[in-house]
Amino acid sequence: MKQDMIVILDLGSTENTVLARQIRDLGVYSEIHPHDITADELKKLDNVKGVILNGGENRIVDGKAVEVRPELYELGYPVISVDYPSSECETKFDKLPDEAALKHFVFDVCGAEANWNMKNFIEDQVELIRRQVGDGKVLLALSGGVDSSVVAALLIKAIGRQLVCVHVNHGLMRKNESESVIQVFRDQLHANLVYVDASERFLGKLEHVADPEQKRKIIGGEFIRVLEEEARKLEGIEFLGQGTIYPDIIESGTKTAKMVKSHHNVGGLPEDLQFKLVEPLKQLFKDEVRACGVELGLPHSMVYRQPFPGPGLGVRCLGAITRDRLEAVRESDAILREEFAKAGLDKKVWQYFTVVPDFKSVGVKNNARSFDYMVIIRAINTVDAMSATIERVDWDVLETITQRILAEVHNVNRVCYDMSPKPPATIEFE
Ligand code: XMP
Repeated sequence: MKQDMIVILDLGSTENTVLARQIRDLGVYSEIHPHDITADELKKLDNVKGVILNGGENRIVDGKAVEVRPELYELGYPVISVDYPSSECETKFDKLPDEAALKHFVFDVCGAEANWNMKNFIEDQVELIRRQVGDGKVLLALSGGVDSSVVAALLIKAIGRQLVCVHVNHGLMRKNESESVIQVFRDQLHANLVYVDASERFLGKLEHVADPEQKRKIIGGEFIRVLEEEARKLEGIEFLGQGTIYPDIIESGTKTAKMVKSHHNVGGLPEDLQFKLVEPLKQLFKDEVRACGVELGLPHSMVYRQPFPGPGLGVRCLGAITRDRLEAVRESDAILREEFAKAGLDKKVWQYFTVVPDFKSVGVKNNARSFDYMVIIRAINTVDAMSATIERVDWDVLETITQRILAEVHNVNRVCYDMSPKPPATIEFE
C-alpha cells in the first residue's frame, strides 16, 4: 500500500469530516471509522500511523454514551483525543486542532508521510479491489452520474471485463445522456456494458401517477427490478459495485434527520441475490471523486457535470408524466444547458434545470389564442444541498433562453424563473 493513514474514531462528534479534511489537506490520508471498531478490524487496515478519538463534548452516539474498546490502546498506535478529557491517552486537543498542532501529531508523533494523492489512491484501490474480487465478477449500475462513472472507470482499471456495467435508460434521462454513457464506456473504455432501454416500461408504470412520493417509489422500485432481472440473466455475479461516497454515509449527529423526499439510489436489491458490496469511493469527498475521475481519464463533461437526481426528469415533469410535457422538459433543459455553457455559467452555477408543471396558461400565437404549458427555469448555488440560494442570472442570458424555448420547444407558451431559496423550497420540485 502506498498511503499512510490516520484513523478518526467517531465518538459522536459532528465534525469528523472537518477533521478528516484537515488531515487530507496535509497530504495524509484519513478515514473515519465507528467508535465500536474492534482491534482486529483496526489491525486489518493498511498503514495506520495513528488514531484520533473524536468525541465532541460528551461522547454520545444515538443518545447513548460510548467508549472505545480498551484493547485498542494496546495496539501501539499513537492515540489522541479531541475535546473529551480522556484518561486513557496522555494527550488531547482541546478543540479541533489548528494546523500546527495537527501537523505535530500527524508527522512528529505518528511519523506519517504526506503521500496521499490520487495516483497513490488509485493504485491502492486497484490492489484492494483485486484482493477483494479475485477472479469474481462485479455488477455495476452505471447511471452516467459522477460517482457511478468514476467507480466504473476504477473497476475497469482494476478488473477489466470482470466488471459488467448495466446502464438502464428509464426514459427520464436528459437529452443524449444514454448515448454519451455508451460512447464513453463501450467505445472508449471497452467496458463490458449491457444497455437496457426500459423507457416504455417506466412510462407505462408512471401513467396517471401524480403523487411525487409515489412517482419516486415507482421509479426507484422499477429500477431495482430491471437491475435484478439483468443480474439474474448474467452468470456467476458475486459482487455489486456501488458509487457510495463519503457524504452518503451519514455523519454522526444527522442520523435522525427527517426524510423530506425518498432519494433514489441503487441498493435495495433482494436478499436472495446476496451480493457482496465493492465500494472503493466510500471514503472520498465529492471533489476527491472528481479528481479521481480526471486521473482515470474520464471526460471533463462527465466528471464535472452537475448533480442529477436518480428519478431523473421524472421529478421535473410535475404531476402525472405525459410524453408531450416530458419532451418539453428534455428539450428546454438541453437549451438551458447549452446557453449556460455559452455564457460560462456552467462552471459557476451549482445546479440548473427546467421544470414543466401540469397546467396550462393562455397565450397568443400567430394571432390566435393558445393554451399551452410553461417552462420554469431554476438555477441555484449551494455548498451541501441542504440549503440553497438562487443564481442572479443576467437578464440578457435569460431572455435568450426564453426566446429559444418559446421558438423551439413544442406546447410551451410561457417561461418563468424560480426565485425561491431552499428553505422553504427544495431544490427539485418533487
Ligand atoms: P432537494 O430537492 O431535496 O434536492 O432540495 C437536494 C439535491 O439532491 C438531488 N436529488 C437527488 N439525488 N437521488 C439523488 O441521487 C434522488 O432521488 C434525488 N432527489 C433529489 C437534487 O437534484 C439536489 O441536488
